[in-house]
Amino acid sequence: MDEKKTLYSAIQPTNNLTIGNYVGAISNWLKLQDDYDCYFSVANMHAITVRQDPAELRKKTLGLLALYLACGIDPQKCCLYVQSHVPAHAELCWVLNSLTYVGEMERMTQFKDKAARHAENVNMGLMDYPVLMAADILLYQAQVVPVGEDQRQHLEMARDIARRFNGAYSPTFTVPEGLFLKVGAKINDLQDPQKKMSKSCENPNGSVFLSDDRDTIIRKFKRAVTDSGSEIIYDPENKPGVSNLITVYSVFAKKSVKEVEAEFAGKGYGELKLAAGEAVADVLDPLRAEQARLLKDAEYLNSVLKSGAERAARTAGRTLFKVYKKIGFYQI
Ligand code: TYM
Repeated sequence: MDEKKTLYSAIQPTNNLTIGNYVGAISNWLKLQDDYDCYFSVANMHAITVRQDPAELRKKTLGLLALYLACGIDPQKCCLYVQSHVPAHAELCWVLNSLTYVGEMERMTQFKDKAARHAENVNMGLMDYPVLMAADILLYQAQVVPVGEDQRQHLEMARDIARRFNGAYSPTFTVPEGLFLKVGAKINDLQDPQKKMSKSCENPNGSVFLSDDRDTIIRKFKRAVTDSGSEIIYDPENKPGVSNLITVYSVFAKKSVKEVEAEFAGKGYGELKLAAGEAVADVLDPLRAEQARLLKDAEYLNSVLKSGAERAARTAGRTLFKVYKKIGFYQI
């Protein structure tokens, strides 16, 4: 009998992914894929809450799948699929909408942020985004959800919605637990190290994109903003710039924070910046090449998506069936 716990996570195929997404999500998933029954989706339904170019969205959807594979996420072990291929996501979202209050959605930090940045397009989807995310997770009865710090509030919402449904009807959904990295749950902007590195940053030197070439990566690290003083120690509170660089270097060079501090004792910020840039480029160079190779093999990518969608739809369908029954939808 399979006793592995179920794990769910997803990334939106929007803009260019950053090393924040790599550290906070994909590289963590890699470590978890052997120990959990994993579902990883390409969240294209979340993506349209901000206006997307249709051709680009299609391209980025496949690009993100190719990236998952290039990073080493194994489709033999994990279910990889595109969110819109499993209609149960939208269906459960609709049910959960009736258990979610407008006031709580209005209070979501990311909603407030995005509404301010896209004032001309504060649509219902943008507000409903956390409910769709709850539907994603709850459909698979996921016990564990590895995400970065910025998704903590959304995950709390998913837990609340699950408890609310279970209380209103009867135990139906597993209440998921978030899994947050001790180091790397929030990679910060290289130009503004108090702020999260994001796909849509204003200063392109602040974010390192997975698509950046080696020279660009190293240049961005060389320009990274550091702190006063000269000691290389991990102290996010007082030395956010240096601590961010230590985090990035430790993840990409596969060394502990303590090892990094020892390696750079008595050395200057410039050396840490260069080492971090080189470590990132060393990891990303082969990934980009492998992603490009995979993107030429549409037949393989489609076969992964087809079997992923079939498997995901089976699991999701079982949950949705139970939900429809409990809420009183007449079944034939
Ligand atoms: P998205 O696409 O914004 O980000 C994908 C993942 O990357 C993490 N992340 C970071 N981690 C560390 N440092 C950063 N600077 C950084 N930036 C992003 C995010 O926390 C996330 O884990 N709503 C989600 C996608 C989603 C989802 C889900 C996740 C849809 N359904 C169900 C979990 C479960 C999102 O927009 O992530």
